[in-house]
Amino acid sequence: MADKAVPMSDLSPLDVLRAKCAEPLPHPDAESLRVACQAVADFVVADFTTLSQRGTGHIATRSEMERLLREPPPEQGADFAKVLDEYFAKIAPNATRSNHPRFLAFVPGAPSFYSVLGDWLCAGTNVFAGVWKEAAAAAQVEILVLDWFKTFLGYPYEAMGLLTSGGSEANLTALVVARERLPFDDRLFAVLYTSEHRHWSLDRAVKIIGMHPDQIRALPADEDGRLRVDLLKDAIAHDRLNGRIPWAVVANAGATNTGSVDPLAELADICAAENLWLHADAAYGWPMVLTEDGRRAMAGIDRADSITLDPHKWFGQTFDAGCLMVRRGDALPETFAMRPEYMQDVTPENAEVNFADHGIALTRRFRALKIWLSLKCLGVDWFRHLVQQNCDLAELSQRLLEQAGTFEIMSRHQLSIVCFRYVPPGGNWSEADLDALNLRINDELRRTGQAFLSTTKIRGRVAQRMCYVNWRSTAADVEKIVAWLAEIGARLSRPGRAS
Ligand SMILES: Cc1ncc(COP(=O)(O)O)c(C=O)c1O
Repeated sequence: MADKAVPMSDLSPLDVLRAKCAEPLPHPDAESLRVACQAVADFVVADFTTLSQRGTGHIATRSEMERLLREPPPEQGADFAKVLDEYFAKIAPNATRSNHPRFLAFVPGAPSFYSVLGDWLCAGTNVFAGVWKEAAAAAQVEILVLDWFKTFLGYPYEAMGLLTSGGSEANLTALVVARERLPFDDRLFAVLYTSEHRHWSLDRAVKIIGMHPDQIRALPADEDGRLRVDLLKDAIAHDRLNGRIPWAVVANAGATNTGSVDPLAELADICAAENLWLHADAAYGWPMVLTEDGRRAMAGIDRADSITLDPHKWFGQTFDAGCLMVRRGDALPETFAMRPEYMQDVTPENAEVNFADHGIALTRRFRALKIWLSLKCLGVDWFRHLVQQNCDLAELSQRLLEQAGTFEIMSRHQLSIVCFRYVPPGGNWSEADLDALNLRINDELRRTGQAFLSTTKIRGRVAQRMCYVNWRSTAADVEKIVAWLAEIGARLSRPGRAS
């Protein structure tokens, strides 16, 4: 042990190194950390419990944000309380809140507080959830959560999966597993069939795995947005005749645009007959399987070879939490497991599971913890009611819009999504003018900071869209939004205001 009284110059090189590394780096003590935690906890709890009474949040411009935050990297640290004040003043108010009950755009997320707490425990302990021998409990909790999902989906015992950063990673991972069945020489001739209403993460996944965009057949959907089985059969036959290799079908089980569910059972029959991989993208829609109506809508999902589920969408989880389930679970390690020398100590034995062998990431957060915690604390029944209430809110929205007399329903409510547009009474509006009007109504509503809806296109025309996934949303929120839309629509379409 180096004597502190001895000048450094008199120490041996070995003792100099010992002296240099004698202490850990400075870090706040337990009491200061408790004070810091309390300040964060006070803010988060207040924010969480008063969100409904506040707006959806301010959308700042890039120049506003540059002015607020631009600075060189600080060489010396500042007091946590001061930095937190800066967060309160500059950062927190300038983010739209997708967990607000009147944020109905895209597919929002609205975690329960148990998920928030689980995420905090995950960050606080920073457990490495990649290999069994580093964190057996993390792997076992993930196995358990995936088994619960299997039960919900009616998936067999031999199915397996992994939690991912989201639906995009899950879809990509599914395609990599599905492609593994193709000999290398066949890969450029392979064709994937899907609907025009697929999520674009699929196109990106195809790009990432090095396939050509024309290897996707995006088939027209029927009036309800469902993949047409007759067109699929024709396309497969046509491709076979032309020397292509039909490879996979990606079905929507809750399309992002309209909530439509493709005819999964019929698709499973075709895939079985044609030896194609069936992947169900249920990133948004999967919690429907918790309800009786939903199980009917999703009939056949248990026959898919793989399923994407996104617990951070309609399952009350913080970002991020996605999931891929694969019917023949062994296909995951067969596709992804690698055994470099520097990982030789953590080779799984005796039914241990290395989740790093199931997908793209080696270092993984302990995502299963927040899902386990919220399911244990809330029970499946809470989630079943969440799904039911959100579907009811979509139906209520449709009825109120119809009752108002100034809206046209563009896509009737499916799952918890409804699409519509404002149509001024008695007016002679062209389709292009209605498109422009609806974009302006949507923009103006968003700017009020009271509600946030997104727009899309249905049959080529602009539609406004409501997607419910939030346990906070109520009938009163729907009534307000419909009244605001009607008021803004009437004002913007008055004579002299037409675009
Ligand atoms: C059907 C569907 N699939 C995939 C995704 C992508 O999921 P993520 O945003 O979690 O990557 C989404 C996102 O909205 C989706 O709706």
